[in-house]
Amino acid sequence: MTTRVGDWFDERLGWRGVWEAIFLRKIPKVNWLFTLGSATLFVATTQIVTGILLTIYYVPTPDHAYDSVQFITTQVPAGWFIRGLHHYGASAMVVLAALHMLRVIFMGAYKFPREMTWFTGVVLLVITVGFGFTGYLLPWDQKAFWATTVGTQIAGAAPGVGDWVLRIMRGGEELSAITLARFFGVHVWVLPAALILLLAIHMYLVIRIGISAPPKKEE
Ligand code: HEM
Repeated sequence: MTTRVGDWFDERLGWRGVWEAIFLRKIPKVNWLFTLGSATLFVATTQIVTGILLTIYYVPTPDHAYDSVQFITTQVPAGWFIRGLHHYGASAMVVLAALHMLRVIFMGAYKFPREMTWFTGVVLLVITVGFGFTGYLLPWDQKAFWATTVGTQIAGAAPGVGDWVLRIMRGGEELSAITLARFFGVHVWVLPAALILLLAIHMYLVIRIGISAPPKKEE
């Protein structure tokens, strides 16, 4: 029955070819270090799911942001768990992406023909750090407020464009409701869109080129 349904869809969508290319492709014998990219991908997926769930209750205004986060943590069923997953997942994603990058460096996997995989990876790392920076402000507590004050000040110290960058980030001279709205917009729309696009290219390249295995002694 399931095969017939599968065949019906395959005749119309050709999904079996895609499935085979992604999940049944041949890969060389590799070790556990090669799972770091997939581990990062897994955490990125849970971040998207838990992030979407958090937006159901989170309110991105100075009057309500702090209270809405407290409400999620203490009143919403399993809210503490979803928030916890998102909170620790953010750190886990940075650590895993960095370890994945180290594996790529030490095994020389960035070399021809994988330069574009490396390049999209670098952008993915910047996006991941951007998620951390913008997300940190959202609870709108003292720690969030002052960390972002300092963070934007550091960006403001850049020669030439610093002042302009600081005002773009804050939406004015000081941290305000505009800063919170801006960080929220970037955190839930701009960065996820960029992440999904870059991930699609990164994964397409990994599948197209095939995973690199460390050369054997005789090679
Ligand atoms: C959001 C972050 C990232 C995700 C989800 C991700 C995901 C993956 C996955 C699943 C693979 C295949 C399995 C593996 O090699 O572990 C891979 C391969 C690769 N990634 Fe990433 N990656 C990310 C960030 C990066 C970064 C920061 C770099 C380097 C700057 C990078 C460069 C590469 C390269 C060169 C390969 C090919 C490795 C090979 O063929 O041996 N990636 N990535």
